[in-house]
Amino acid sequence: MLGCTNRPDNFLSLIRSMSVLNFLFLLLSCVQVLSCNKLDRDSLLSFHKHISSPPSDIPLNWSSTNCCIWEGITCNSKSRVTHLSLSGKGFSGTITPFLGNLTSLSYLNLSHNQFSGPLPFALFHTLSNLESLDLSYNLLYASQNHGLPVSIQTVDLSSNRFNGSINSSFFHGASSLISFNVSNNSFSGPLPSSICITSSFVKILDFSMNKFSGNISQGIGRCSKLEVFRAGLNSLSGWLPYDIYSVKTLSEISLPENYFSGPVNNSIVLLSNLSIIDLHGNELTGEVPTDIGLLSNLKQLILHTNSLNGSVPPSLMNCTSLKTLLLRNNHLGGKISSLDFSKLKELETIDFGNNSFVGNIPVRLCFCKSLSAVRLAYNHLEGEIPSCVAVLKSLSHLSLANNNLSDVVGALKILANCHNLSVLFLTNCFRDEPVRDNYSLLHLTGFQNLQILSLSGCQLKCEVPSWIGKLKKLRGLDLSYNQMTGTIPKWLGSMPRLFALDLTGNHLSGELPPEIGSLKALIAANADSNLYYLALPFLYGILEYDRLFYLPRGIKVGNNILSGNIPAELGQLTRLRVLDLSDNNFSGCIPSELSNLVNLEKMNLSANNLSCEIPESLTRLNFMSFFSVKNNDLQGEIPKGGQFDTFPNTSFEGNPKLLRRSFVGSRVDILLLVTAAKEPETLWHSLPFWLGYLVGFFLVGVSFLFNGS
Ligand SMILES: *[C@@H]1O[C@H](CO)[C@@H](O)[C@H](O)[C@H]1NC(C)=O
Ligand SMILES: *[C@@H]1O[C@H](CO)[C@@H](O)[C@H](O)[C@H]1NC(C)=O
Ligand SMILES: *[C@@H]1O[C@H](CO)[C@@H](O)[C@H](O)[C@H]1NC(C)=O
Ligand SMILES: *[C@@H]1O[C@H](CO)[C@@H](O)[C@H](O)[C@H]1NC(C)=O
Ligand SMILES: *[C@@H]1O[C@H](CO)[C@@H](O)[C@H](O)[C@H]1NC(C)=O
Ligand SMILES: *[C@@H]1O[C@H](CO)[C@@H](O)[C@H](O)[C@H]1NC(C)=O
Ligand SMILES: *[C@@H]1O[C@H](CO)[C@@H](O)[C@H](O)[C@H]1NC(C)=O
Ligand SMILES: *[C@@H]1O[C@H](CO)[C@@H](O)[C@H](O)[C@H]1NC(C)=O
Ligand SMILES: *[C@@H]1O[C@H](CO)[C@@H](O)[C@H](O)[C@H]1NC(C)=O
Ligand SMILES: *[C@@H]1O[C@H](CO)[C@@H](O)[C@H](O)[C@H]1NC(C)=O
Ligand SMILES: *[C@@H]1O[C@H](CO)[C@@H](O)[C@H](O)[C@H]1NC(C)=O
Ligand SMILES: *[C@@H]1O[C@H](CO)[C@@H](O)[C@H](O)[C@H]1NC(C)=O
Repeated sequence: MLGCTNRPDNFLSLIRSMSVLNFLFLLLSCVQVLSCNKLDRDSLLSFHKHISSPPSDIPLNWSSTNCCIWEGITCNSKSRVTHLSLSGKGFSGTITPFLGNLTSLSYLNLSHNQFSGPLPFALFHTLSNLESLDLSYNLLYASQNHGLPVSIQTVDLSSNRFNGSINSSFFHGASSLISFNVSNNSFSGPLPSSICITSSFVKILDFSMNKFSGNISQGIGRCSKLEVFRAGLNSLSGWLPYDIYSVKTLSEISLPENYFSGPVNNSIVLLSNLSIIDLHGNELTGEVPTDIGLLSNLKQLILHTNSLNGSVPPSLMNCTSLKTLLLRNNHLGGKISSLDFSKLKELETIDFGNNSFVGNIPVRLCFCKSLSAVRLAYNHLEGEIPSCVAVLKSLSHLSLANNNLSDVVGALKILANCHNLSVLFLTNCFRDEPVRDNYSLLHLTGFQNLQILSLSGCQLKCEVPSWIGKLKKLRGLDLSYNQMTGTIPKWLGSMPRLFALDLTGNHLSGELPPEIGSLKALIAANADSNLYYLALPFLYGILEYDRLFYLPRGIKVGNNILSGNIPAELGQLTRLRVLDLSDNNFSGCIPSELSNLVNLEKMNLSANNLSCEIPESLTRLNFMSFFSVKNNDLQGEIPKGGQFDTFPNTSFEGNPKLLRRSFVGSRVDILLLVTAAKEPETLWHSLPFWLGYLVGFFLVGVSFLFNGS
């Protein structure tokens, strides 16, 4: 009855042309009366023949005579099929040219399936009523492309395997085209910028994530209704085409991660509806357009990772809708304190990192009450953190690393009030200033939501402050390269979420407390079940990981004056990936329990006073790619097998009593003194390795696991 009740007009016209008897008959078997066009039914059945449902699902039941009531089908009053909609059903198979017989079809949606093989474009020849085509998220590729049907308005071929080039004849006749999305395919060749010669209604063009290359030639300028233009993540180059600056209707230009060069023409400010400009990851030069402030609808200005120079135009501070402002990794400079941010009430994310800005942190940034992420790292800023920063209650990420600020204690007292702060990088931020007020530094309160804290290279001359122990959410703590004294506190071991600890390069003494072996977040059995995917917006692109979850789990206490035995309890930390105890005074044996650290990738025990043999069981550590016990007092033979067969001699040198067993052929075992590596020649050979190692550790060490924050 569905076919009847759904269409009252159709129903009435039927009544009019029928006798009462016929009408009664209709009521009894309306399904048959409305039964679909035979040609449509046949072509649907032939389509059906070529597809299969996933085994777990009930197969498509297209068995009754009336195809108009089949799942996914809609007919018009003439019983012709107008809609075929089978999105997300898990179908696989191919798309047959027989669909071309559904000549009344206006809507075809087969998105989110597993259709594969070549799409027979020829079928569109006959689909002269097709308005909407959605084949996104399948595995289709192009056969000869014959061009789009004349009636087409919306085309979504995104997320497939289409390849080859799109030439202008593809759009020939498609004079009603409004939206064209081919993102996430493998199209190559030039961008078909002549698209609007025939299709002057185009509003949406998405070419992103393909292999389009070369310059964008003139043509887009004809798209006088274009609102969204995306072609990011291709290999496009040359200057941005001039005629793009004449498309007044544009609200989004997203062309990131290409090879565009040259300047952004100041004429861009005439596109008054622009709300998104994303040109990051190109080779753009010149300055940020001076009159950018005319773009009063601008919400996102994303120009990071280019070669822009000059200063930030003061007019930008007139873009009161701005939410996202990313300018990192350019050659921008100028006095940041002269910028008046006070009108940017909507601003959420600002990244000026890795430029050459000078001056103080602008006080007027405090007017931007919506700020949640601020990164001014790697500039030449001076002065103190303004106390008004404490009012930024939404602030969750702050990185000021590598500047020349002063008063670390004052800074921490202010920031402790930012209740939502979860990531704080002050790495190398207070480089030249000895800390005077140690009492305040040791007695802070606040920071209850901190998840990552880096105070590396901040000239701290005190004990590890006990307030840190109250930060129940802390997962990463970097206090490396300070002058901290005293012992490593036992309470660190009871921090419920801590999984990355870096105390490298301090003056810490005493034993490594066995309690460190109880760090819950490093013990598989107790591991925190939620996958804390805290986004790290500013790390992305510089490091491989953009989620806190991906930070390497590590304990690094190298370059201190720690002594005593290596606690066997460390063996409980089965999720540990980096263990660095180098350059200390550890003595005794290497506990064989360390061979329980099945996820360990790096173990550095070099430059200590360790004696005894290297436990054979360490060969079980299959992921260990770096191992060093250099400069100790180990003896016996170096274990054989597993990763140990890949470690270079330099991993073991400086242990006069350590022997390397070497198999010559299969007959004789010769014991070689590893100290043979002290011969000048060999020493020089090992130098590049050591340099690499030092540089590697410097990078990881200096700014912890989050270098470049
Ligand atoms: C398919 O649908 C028809 C009615 O449209 C029904 O009679 C038949 O039992 C269904 N078949 C299966 C296998 O579900
Ligand atoms: C349906 O389309 C196919 C392919 O275009 C064609 O070969 C076939 O003759 C058509 N079927 C009918 C019944 O017209
Ligand atoms: C296709 O169907 C999916 C799922 O129903 C829907 O999300 C999508 O918007 C449809 N596409 C078009 C162009 O209507
Ligand atoms: C194009 O399709 C992709 C999905 O494959 C989608 O993410 C994107 O938003 C679409 N582009 C536009 C402009 O709607
Ligand atoms: C790109 O397409 C592939 C395959 O269809 C899909 O798995 C992936 O999610 C798509 N990527 C994006 C960003 O849409
Ligand atoms: C497109 O992909 C198909 C299937 O992978 C391949 O056979 C064909 O040669 C490709 N065409 C071009 C122009 O790369
Ligand atoms: C464009 O495609 C059509 C149809 O596939 C083909 O005949 C024509 O030669 C192509 N033109 C260019 C310039 O590649
Ligand atoms: C691409 O554009 C650049 C600058 O706009 C120009 O120097 C170059 O000749 C162009 N290349 C081609 C192939 O048109
Ligand atoms: C700008 O956008 C508004 C609202 O979306 C629209 O009404 C107006 O026509 C657009 N102006 C231009 C020049 O496209
Ligand atoms: C900006 O574009 C205009 C044409 O729209 C052109 O005349 C001018 O030279 C361009 N300026 C720069 C700096 O490229
Ligand atoms: C910016 O770079 C251009 C060359 O790309 C140069 O001509 C110009 O003088 C530079 N401007 C500033 C302010 O450094
Ligand atoms: C900002 O806008 C105001 C009012 O529209 C205007 O008077 C001022 O000159 C603009 N400032 C800049 C730097 O463009």
